[in-house]
Amino acid sequence: MGDRGESAAEHWEAPFGTDQIHVAFALFASNEIALDTAREAAKQAYHEIGGISVQYHMDVGMMPDGRTHLGFRDGISNPYIDGSPFPPAFGHEGPVKSGEFLFGYPNESGQIMEGPSPAPLGHNGSYLSLRKLHICAAAYRRYVQEKATASLSAERIGAKMVGRWPSGTPLALSPEEDDTRLSEDESRINVFSYADDPKGFKCPISAHVRRAFPRDSLQDQVVDVNIHRLLRRSTVYGPALTKGVLEDDGHDRGIIFAGICTSLIRQYEFIKTEWLNGGNFVGLSTEQDPVTGNKDGEHTFTIPAKPLRHRLKEVPEFSITRGGEYFFIPSLTALRWLAEQAGQGPSDL
Ligand code: HEM
Repeated sequence: MGDRGESAAEHWEAPFGTDQIHVAFALFASNEIALDTAREAAKQAYHEIGGISVQYHMDVGMMPDGRTHLGFRDGISNPYIDGSPFPPAFGHEGPVKSGEFLFGYPNESGQIMEGPSPAPLGHNGSYLSLRKLHICAAAYRRYVQEKATASLSAERIGAKMVGRWPSGTPLALSPEEDDTRLSEDESRINVFSYADDPKGFKCPISAHVRRAFPRDSLQDQVVDVNIHRLLRRSTVYGPALTKGVLEDDGHDRGIIFAGICTSLIRQYEFIKTEWLNGGNFVGLSTEQDPVTGNKDGEHTFTIPAKPLRHRLKEVPEFSITRGGEYFFIPSLTALRWLAEQAGQGPSDL
């Protein structure tokens, strides 16, 4: 996964990467009061069960403006699952077969993906790649300011790296400036193509979002992008770095990346190793994704421009892996089945 140097597994926070984690339990709530109520119920169940102990706990949650610590809005683009009654909140590409995200259904290749056996356990479940990624917010701010010129502002460099402006406006639709009319329009913010921009003059081919999901960019290659899609449910942790501050304040802050799919190898790992960590698929040699890479690549970031491209050098690491685990997410029916196996009634689930 490119976890080298400070990101290497031997530096991960315990108990990540050890054999101590067996189950992850996530509590979601829309406000603190609802969270407290859910937490109390969970604590009670925890005390009643016995035989398990909490190894690690994280308080996470999106910032009120939906932005991550680099200042960009996240959580906009997600695949639309074919047949789902819940289309994503924002406009989307064509539907992706449900078998890419749920066991027991045909995937994009017409195969039925099987989850863990026996069938009642695997059916309707998914796999989850969870990663704790520390974000180097001060290093990022310093870098974009240092590299800024009269024609290439710090904000523009950041937008070129991500492929969206801080508001979420895609560069593919508004390459020159952030346009909040676009970012506030749910039907437009995620409906775009790279077909009219093969060289990346609007959105660099090395930008994070273009690498992570190249949409229609790779049409001259035999690549079916829909077999490499991820359902993302990421969130952030840690306090925001105070506006304008350029020095690290010592707080741990970052993103809890959550990628859901039925094939960790073909979906999560492929995106990370081939598209984010590599450059060959778009003729960029060993240049890496500027947001998640630069551990052992060229440490450059190319911004196509006329008459001359900009090639930013010595791009530091803006994210450091603090831990990661793969999980199986059972469905509600699988949880009922498990409870029945344990001799308990399914009524509480
Ligand atoms: C340092 C950690 C990361 C940060 C700060 C970050 C940030 C972002 C942001 C701001 C967006 C644009 C919002 C959106 O389209 O929803 C985005 C999109 C995306 N990211 Fe990341 N990301 C990170 C790590 C990753 C990793 C590790 C992966 C996959 C292995 C990934 C996959 C994606 C995908 C698939 C998209 C959607 C692209 C699209 O559909 O157009 N990201 N990310």
